[in-house]
Amino acid sequence: MNLSSTSKLSTFAWGMALGVLTMFIFEHYNYMQVMHEYFETGYTEKLAAQRNVSKYKTNAYYRPPEPKRYSIQREERGYLTPEVNGTRILCWIMTSPDNIPKRAKSVKDTWGKRCDILLFFSSKEDPNFPAIGLNVEEGPAKLYDKARASLEYIYNHYLNDADWFLKADDDTYAIIENLRSHLSKLNTSEPHYLGRIFSHSGIYNSGGGYVFSRETLRRFKKAVGEPSCPQHHKFEDVAVGKCLKAQGVVPVRTTDSSGKETFMVLPLESHLMPFTYKLPWWYPKFYKEGAEYCSEYPYLFHHVKSEIMYQMEYLIYRVKVWSKNSK
Ligand SMILES: *[C@@H]1O[C@H](CO)[C@@H](O)[C@H](O)[C@H]1NC(C)=O
Ligand SMILES: *[C@@H]1O[C@H](CO)[C@@H](O)[C@H](O)[C@H]1NC(C)=O
Ligand SMILES: *[C@@H]1O[C@H](CO)[C@@H](O)[C@H](O)[C@H]1NC(C)=O
Repeated sequence: MNLSSTSKLSTFAWGMALGVLTMFIFEHYNYMQVMHEYFETGYTEKLAAQRNVSKYKTNAYYRPPEPKRYSIQREERGYLTPEVNGTRILCWIMTSPDNIPKRAKSVKDTWGKRCDILLFFSSKEDPNFPAIGLNVEEGPAKLYDKARASLEYIYNHYLNDADWFLKADDDTYAIIENLRSHLSKLNTSEPHYLGRIFSHSGIYNSGGGYVFSRETLRRFKKAVGEPSCPQHHKFEDVAVGKCLKAQGVVPVRTTDSSGKETFMVLPLESHLMPFTYKLPWWYPKFYKEGAEYCSEYPYLFHHVKSEIMYQMEYLIYRVKVWSKNSK
């Protein structure tokens, strides 16, 4: 390569970098602007009209909750039928040495304690936390290696100690009671693979977590080592889906009894305020966003910061809404 083509190349690279930076700043500015305007009265309606999304009830976000309905829901949560109580969930959390002090700790302090068995998997053992060491390198491209090693560990040590196996990230918040109630109606000897389906081919669940029945865990173990199950893969969720598909396990869309979404895989505000967020390019187009498509009995939230976990814990389990029967 001669000097002039090198300099052309570097000019081009600088140009690209500048372009990307400008785009980033513009996006961020746009986002701040939108968030600011969102809270002005009438903005949601205006935006909805602009984007021609009349199918959403645009005043839904301003309507205060009906106290009575919410307090009944809270009372129901405390009551466990024997079938629901007998449904045992093992939660396994993928974390890393750097994330143990904050993220993993907030899971352990909050929703994690409602799992029947709670396991943390990391690249290195941490006997004090405790976290199980997998001898797998850290890094985004190694997530599949970690998941596979974790699943084999669970298969070898816990197969019969739980009925269901929830995989979650250390920024996932789950409402175990809601999930448990749903699972109590399913048969763990059948190959269930629950979560939020990604990709139009519909072979894998993604975003914050998925649930295996015992039969699915068995089939995953059987899949490992088969040519149809990748040895290594850049994307953990895709690879897990591929291994299972080869064993005849496909995900089924996991919605509640009224067809509303239960796995909140985007930041919660993106599910609730679809007008203010541009959905990521990889997000399936067949999902509808908006508060009215979100279940009253959600199972899982993704992209929850540690601080927010403590806030959710308070809002979900301790806050009561006054009604005429309140003391
Ligand atoms: C908005 O949607 C309505 C009904 O779906 C359609 O008839 C109309 O042409 C749309 N308007 C624009 C500007 O896209
Ligand atoms: C639920 O199960 C636990 C242990 O399996 C038991 O100690 C507890 O009494 C049960 N609670 C109800 C309400 O059945
Ligand atoms: C659960 O599924 C297994 C395997 O299909 C079947 O043998 C068993 O009878 C089922 N149990 C119930 C309670 O339906």
